[in-house]
Amino acid sequence: MKSSEEGTTGNKTSAITFVILGFSHRPDMKVIFFILFLCIYIITVLGNLIILLLINMDPVLHTPMYFFLRNLSFLEICYTSVTLLRVLVSLLSSDTSISFAGCAAQMYFFLFFGATECCLLAAMAYDRYRAICNPVDYMVIMNKKECMQLAASSWICGNLVALGHTTFIFSLPFCGSNVINHFFCEIQPVLMLVCVDAYWSELQIILAAAFVIMMPFLLTLVSYGLIISSILKIGSAKERYKAFSTCFSHLTVVTLFYGTVVFIYIRPKSSYSLDADKVLSLFCSGVTPILNPFIYSLRNREVKGALFKMRMKLFYHNF
Ligand SMILES: *[C@@H]1O[C@H](CO)[C@@H](O)[C@H](O)[C@H]1NC(C)=O
Repeated sequence: MKSSEEGTTGNKTSAITFVILGFSHRPDMKVIFFILFLCIYIITVLGNLIILLLINMDPVLHTPMYFFLRNLSFLEICYTSVTLLRVLVSLLSSDTSISFAGCAAQMYFFLFFGATECCLLAAMAYDRYRAICNPVDYMVIMNKKECMQLAASSWICGNLVALGHTTFIFSLPFCGSNVINHFFCEIQPVLMLVCVDAYWSELQIILAAAFVIMMPFLLTLVSYGLIISSILKIGSAKERYKAFSTCFSHLTVVTLFYGTVVFIYIRPKSSYSLDADKVLSLFCSGVTPILNPFIYSLRNREVKGALFKMRMKLFYHNF
């Protein structure tokens, strides 16, 4: 294993060079994992790009719901590019070291896109709530400007959260080992290298993170509580199904997203160091981005229609 000159006590923290452990312990698995993650990455980017293009091209999809979906697809592309692309690069290169600033930047972007996704999912739940509970006002209230403001505040919120967390973590003193037992600079493995009062700083971070995740989660939950209670009041079963089907895709994505977040982060610490666990958590973080386009294109008649139209256009263009 490679060790860097700096990183012990007495040195300036910003002079530390971290070493990303990644797959170093299983070089025989590198090729298999590279191919696997490359496939996942390509499918994720292609799927979300198709959704982006469809929504841009088809006027039927120029509604608030699809405006948010376009934003979400764009976000998923950014998110996987930060995580999976980094893993792919580290699988290819033999140099596993990363500078202090590089590590901080990686964590910032990872947190930025993650927190923005929480907020955006809450904004989408609010949009569904408006559409189902106040259908008459909906067209008036959710105009283009308000959608853009809601989406923009999600990005701003995500940015502030990421900035706060990253600044706090990287202002803590690092000492001892500089080996990050993960594929990129994620919160937990980096926190393990913090020396002074690690327990308290960790607790603070966990509480702050829980708060950050809880806020949009609660908003999403409240929106869906109101949606479900209002759907239950609808008399005819057919109308009820119609109302529910407009939020089914989003509800699936929300469940997947928070399900994997809980699975990755809210588990006993001891199991975290296991190597299989590391890979599993990486897989999990890719579940929502890769499934998002499929969930939306398989469930929604409008998206299916747009896909059909695009295929027809391509067909007539070629022949
Ligand atoms: C996402 O929303 C922001 C804020 O409204 C907007 O500036 C941006 O263009 C949107 N991106 C996409 C791909 O729709």
